[in-house]
Amino acid sequence: MITKCLFPVAGYGTRFLPATKAMPKEMMPIVNKPLIQYGVQEAMEAGMRQIAFVTGRRKRAIEDHFDRTYELEDQISGTTAEKNLEEIRALMKECTFSYTRQIQMQGLGDAIRTGETLIGDQPFGVILADDLCLGDGQPVLSQMVEIFTKYQCSIVAIEEVPQQETEKYGIISGKLLEDRLFIVDSMVEKPPVHEAPSNHAIIGRYILTPDIFDTLRNLPPGKNGEIQITDALNVQAKKKMVLGYQFKGIRFDCGRLEGFVAATNHFFNLMHASKPSQSVK
Ligand code: UTP
Repeated sequence: MITKCLFPVAGYGTRFLPATKAMPKEMMPIVNKPLIQYGVQEAMEAGMRQIAFVTGRRKRAIEDHFDRTYELEDQISGTTAEKNLEEIRALMKECTFSYTRQIQMQGLGDAIRTGETLIGDQPFGVILADDLCLGDGQPVLSQMVEIFTKYQCSIVAIEEVPQQETEKYGIISGKLLEDRLFIVDSMVEKPPVHEAPSNHAIIGRYILTPDIFDTLRNLPPGKNGEIQITDALNVQAKKKMVLGYQFKGIRFDCGRLEGFVAATNHFFNLMHASKPSQSVK
């Protein structure tokens, strides 16, 4: 049973400047809900109710979001506006939230290593909230938990991307084990297009076994001088097994403008499809 999910949210979100100058990227709303809330919902649905954030300076709004807002809540108490808080209140009731800070932005691997103090010695989920996933039939992290139950090893979610986009992702090479599931031989972080071993890109959903922390602690900086989670996973793949899972569903890269706008349109349409009698003004 995996009970903890780690959210690295310390990044600067430079691609969204100036919006992210004073506001965390993870608080940007897709329709009326911040990105981070979609991620926490997914973790909760996968049974991970202990939510751990690796946060940083300028990210206080995330802590405030998962807390009471007394004055506001008092003001709207008993009004129709209160309905809009139902989902976040349910999350706050079901989950616990803990925080630690990454002091220097030294990459995703460093952010995950910083989270050890909140995770301890147990397998855990990782969600990068700017990858907004809509699972087909079942949330993506829940799909991965099922695979973990069978194989008990680290798992990365993968997606086929156009070959010319491989340089934006960690790319795996591997052998097909069963439908949608690959045994990873190796991973390369953001390879030049002609050096990419495949077009299977790692996206922002992971299940990691806790020995990843030992590996991360001893890892030298990799691509772009950052501590790369893909380098640590390469060590695990050689020592034991890492799986790449081609998830069922769709993903929006909300760390980029195009993905953010596509997600906004998609979720807005979903919202109105479920309320056919309302007109859109
Ligand atoms: P990204 O590189 O996609 O996010 O990191 P970013 O740095 O916030 O955005 P840009 O590139 O400047 O626009 C992927 C995830 O890893 C976290 C980020 O918060 C994001 O969720 N991250 C990255 C950290 O927490 N710490 C780091 O040192 C690096």
